[in-house]
Amino acid sequence: MDSDERSENGFGFALPDDPRQRDRLAELGSIAGGLVHELKNPLGAIALNVELLLDAYAKGDPQPERSKARLQRIQAGTNHLQDIVQSFLSFARPGRPDVDKVDISQLLHHIVDEQRDLLNADRISIAIRVAPDLAAVPGDSGQLRSIFLNIILNARDALRDDPRPIDRQIIIAARNRRHGIRVVIANNGPALNSTAAAHLFDPFFSAKDGGTGLGLAIVARLVELHRGRVTASSNPDQGVSFTIELPTTLGPAQHRTELPAPDAGIHPDAS
Ligand SMILES: Nc1ncnc2c1ncn2[C@@H]1O[C@H](COP(=O)(O)OP(=O)(O)O)[C@@H](O)[C@H]1O
Ligand SMILES: [Mg+2]
Repeated sequence: MDSDERSENGFGFALPDDPRQRDRLAELGSIAGGLVHELKNPLGAIALNVELLLDAYAKGDPQPERSKARLQRIQAGTNHLQDIVQSFLSFARPGRPDVDKVDISQLLHHIVDEQRDLLNADRISIAIRVAPDLAAVPGDSGQLRSIFLNIILNARDALRDDPRPIDRQIIIAARNRRHGIRVVIANNGPALNSTAAAHLFDPFFSAKDGGTGLGLAIVARLVELHRGRVTASSNPDQGVSFTIELPTTLGPAQHRTELPAPDAGIHPDAS
């Protein structure tokens, strides 16, 4: 293809003609921009504290306690960077689902048992109600666990930050539907504001200090890989609830390898 057939972008290189490819490039640009934006804060804090430590070192480290605090800030910065990079990898390359029949009841009970003490320490109670005949779901147990855990940990954060003197509760319910199962995870914390409601599943949308904004983007992507649906609803009296619907069959002609390949594209929108 010669260059006059393609549109120039002002930088001397051509954009592809195919609108889908252009869309993907635009999406990639916006995701890369979000990633860079997230990395900048911790990197800036690390660079500043290293500089201050070097200054102090040159003066014979007159205030070692201060230096220790700076080292701790550097450590926090690197932890945050690791968090972002790990989460970003789970989002961008979740890995092909390793499909098995997953007992969702057992999985949910396991997560709840594991989290209960930690939640109780934040004065949050967690209750679980699962239909006794809940169908198994074909899926990757690790990825399904990530879906539920991300939503539960967000519920914890929302309840922890709620200044109202309420009985903080997370309730999980699961039952069979016509061609699948439905899991609802609800908490009675604050309702979503309109910005959060509109951008909940967007990569890098976070209203928290130190949040990566990738948790729900990962949830949306993993649910999509399992051919399911995830939605959120919220109202001021009842807090926030997430509904995850997962199919119990992948269709008669479908084999494990026919789940969509995870690197087929980034589609963070779960609606
Ligand atoms: N249960 C919830 N209650 C209130 N707000 C929530 C809830 N779950 C998610 N959110 C909002 O959605 C944002 C994005 O969540 P997420 O993608 O997991 O990123 P992060 O937890 O790193 O902020 C959160 O920062 C929060 O504002
Ligand atoms: Mg989160």
